[in-house]
Amino acid sequence: MADTLTIIDNRTGKKYEVPIADETIKALDLRQIKVKEDDFGLMTYDPAFMNTASCKSKITYIDGDKGILRYRGYPIEQLAEKSNFLETAYLILSGELPTKSQYEEWVKNITFHTLIHENIKKVMDGFHYDAHPMGMLISTVAALSTFYTDAKDIHDAALRRKQTYRLIAKMPTLAAFAYRHSVGRPYVYPDNDLSYTANFMSMLWKMTELQYQANPVLAKALDVLFILHADHEQNCSASAMRGIGSSYVDPYSAIAGAAAALYGPLHGGANEEVLHMLEAIGSTDNVPAFMADVKAGKGRLMGFGHRVYKNYDPRAKVIKRLADEVFEVTGRNPKLDIALELERIALDDEYFVKRKLYPNVDFYSGLIYQAMGFPVEMFPVLFSIPRTVGWIAQWEEMLTDPDQKIARPRQIFLGSGERDYVVMSKRV
Ligand code: CMC
Repeated sequence: MADTLTIIDNRTGKKYEVPIADETIKALDLRQIKVKEDDFGLMTYDPAFMNTASCKSKITYIDGDKGILRYRGYPIEQLAEKSNFLETAYLILSGELPTKSQYEEWVKNITFHTLIHENIKKVMDGFHYDAHPMGMLISTVAALSTFYTDAKDIHDAALRRKQTYRLIAKMPTLAAFAYRHSVGRPYVYPDNDLSYTANFMSMLWKMTELQYQANPVLAKALDVLFILHADHEQNCSASAMRGIGSSYVDPYSAIAGAAAALYGPLHGGANEEVLHMLEAIGSTDNVPAFMADVKAGKGRLMGFGHRVYKNYDPRAKVIKRLADEVFEVTGRNPKLDIALELERIALDDEYFVKRKLYPNVDFYSGLIYQAMGFPVEMFPVLFSIPRTVGWIAQWEEMLTDPDQKIARPRQIFLGSGERDYVVMSKRV
């Protein structure tokens, strides 16, 4: 039997055969369904892309019902346990795990690009003392496009790779500088003798010592968190990256747009909201009343629910285990008890069970970040650093996919028909 979908148009009695490939039909194949020769043809209406595949991808696989996440086929749990962030970044971008020499070359290239132009410091200095570090990150990564004009040449694979090194290397520097600005401390330059996360911690927290000694447990925990956040297929910010990149703008401008999409409280800003929520709840005694409010539609349980996962987010499982290791070093975050109580009630409550709402990646990550000493405003920034890898991988895949064109959705126009302009004195 042919792999097709038969559609009968009851308006005309006409029958159409639409091919099914990769468990999808092409929306454009519906265009042939018309009542008259000059009509536009049938479109699909899918606000928020609830049921539309916007691309073919080989990067990240998610099975939301089973709670599976894989980068290039490798389960997230294995990567979190056995890999490190830069190796995972190579995997996501190149499709395969690196050999020893490929890995060494890759790390060398990224380490080589950690410094930023001195004028970026002046851009940083222009921000108000209480500027949100995510706003600073978004602006300064966009500003990088003015320093690297070769980035405009997005069709040159070697130049794309150069911007990739720069972006992965400089995001921690921008993030740390934004933090240091907000606390009024002098910027700390990168220390290329340190690992990716230890260098980041040095730029954040080094004071007068000659070399910053990162706690190895915390540096490793940060590295694992970066692995978990590196990509998540076609989420809001990845779609923004692809959409903006499809106009062939340079990657710094596109990343600024993707980071802006991440900033929102329904996406990467959720971990910041989780901490505000836990703060507002105050103690485990207040959890039942808070849950009653959520069920009555007065606000959401932040860090719960996901468009794709209808099961426990596999990243949240890894993070929950990681929290124990971090709290061994930092001491227990007192808000953990509130979070555990929220989770316990939610997993047993009909409202959450019926809607398949489980903890997502943001539910516990903020508790770890806070215990490590990050202010909540830094949480979306911490998400952006590793997600830069995913954004670049999605952007490259889009640019090299012959099916892709500039993103340009259609609309259903429901506004007025043509009417004549009325001068102001005659308007009622
Ligand atoms: N608390 C309470 N109710 C919820 C929640 C929640 N966190 N999430 C969804 N619901 C309810 C929602 O009210 C709706 O109920 P009803 O059917 O009665 O109207 C139902 O569940 C379906 O919700 P939805 O808004 O249609 O689901 P969505 O797929 O559009 O939204 C989401 C996904 C992540 C935006 C949403 O679950 C949410 O707002 N969660 C809280 C914010 C959050 O934690 N975001 C981080 C996402 S993971 C990190 C990332 O990748 O960015």
